[in-house]
Amino acid sequence: MILVTGGAGFIGSNFILDWIAASGEAVVNLDKLTYAGNLENLASLKNDTRHLFVRGDINDRGLLANLLAEHKPRAIIHFAAESHVDRSISGPGEFIQTNINGTFSLLEVARVWWQGLGAAEKKVFRFLHVSTDEVYGSLGPNDPPFTETTAYAPNSPYSASKAASDHLVRAYHHTYGLPTLTTNCSNNYGAFQFPEKLIPLVILNALNGKPLPIYGNGLNVRDWLYVGDHCTAIREVLAGGRLGETYNIGGWNEKTNLDVVNTVCAMLDEMKPAADGRPYASLITYVKDRPGHDARYAIDAHKIERELGWKPQETFDTGIRKTVAWYLDNQGWVDDVVSGEYQNWVAKNYGGR
Ligand code: NAD
Ligand code: TYD
Repeated sequence: MILVTGGAGFIGSNFILDWIAASGEAVVNLDKLTYAGNLENLASLKNDTRHLFVRGDINDRGLLANLLAEHKPRAIIHFAAESHVDRSISGPGEFIQTNINGTFSLLEVARVWWQGLGAAEKKVFRFLHVSTDEVYGSLGPNDPPFTETTAYAPNSPYSASKAASDHLVRAYHHTYGLPTLTTNCSNNYGAFQFPEKLIPLVILNALNGKPLPIYGNGLNVRDWLYVGDHCTAIREVLAGGRLGETYNIGGWNEKTNLDVVNTVCAMLDEMKPAADGRPYASLITYVKDRPGHDARYAIDAHKIERELGWKPQETFDTGIRKTVAWYLDNQGWVDDVVSGEYQNWVAKNYGGR
């Protein structure tokens, strides 16, 4: 079996659903269930013995050691993190605690356990660390995309904390020989994404006739990848990635935020036209920019393509269509996540903008 951390979040839950469907191999899912963790994402596995959920913190070393001793996973896939840049600006402490200290705890416990294994088990074990393209900082309009050798230059507390965790993973490979793999992926979108992130926020605000907040001039560029393609890439890296290496994962799909929002609006106009007949894009509202807002991210994903034969299957159009359809079809999930804490966040982040 494998141990997944953060498997009740957006990408982790997509990964577990994909993993069990594709391989049938059992998963122990360790998740603290912060505001971003939601077991409803895994409701379809409720009576499936191949999914074992454990509520806990990656900083709890005793719990981690017990889980490893009891389940003897052949791999750890580490998703657990605080993941939202705007929250890292208003409250960086949790990002240091989970992304840096938590990754350190996980590495330490994994190292001690791995060092005690027999030769055969030691050889097959993998520690796969899931990271972001944001560690590379911001590109100018004509710069080449990030490669695996681009120097790290994180600009937000989120990306700085992820960069620190990437460095620790690297050091555990070089110093102790821990069989690590690191992936640095671009912006994901798809089912189960918490509506603090741009795409689900825009879908839900549009459907509720609320303003669609664009930070600054809307010309910041991100590379977007459908979450299912990210999950496939992680499986490929786990199966065939070279130890100690990092792999960039991206969609070859750079878009300005304005393009993204206009595409989502056009899709909604087609799939669920507004009652008053007005195009959803008429709700676009420019608001105060994010401090330190990175201008552009772009990924050169040739290495994973060359070495492992991975390429994204979805285009932006097909991926966004699936995503919008999912939010339209899953009103119950939406109603659950937008109650409570979510309202506080919306008031805090957008209230004074
Ligand atoms: P998310 O915020 O949706 O989910 C994070 C999950 O981690 C939640 O279920 C949460 O409960 C859990 N968690 C948080 N702190 C924990 C702790 N201390 N102990 C145990 N569990 C804890 O995040 P996501 O968007 O699914 O991202 C998953 C990973 O992928 C992160 O490491 C993120 O940096 C990385 N990543 C995300 C994107 C993206 O576009 N979302 C892109 C590239 C990389
Ligand atoms: P986000 O989904 O938060 O991802 P990240 O900051 O990790 O790239 O934001 C994507 C882009 O959209 C980013 O340039 C910030 C911008 N944005 C807005 O313009 N308005 C919003 O309300 C949000 C949440 C993001």
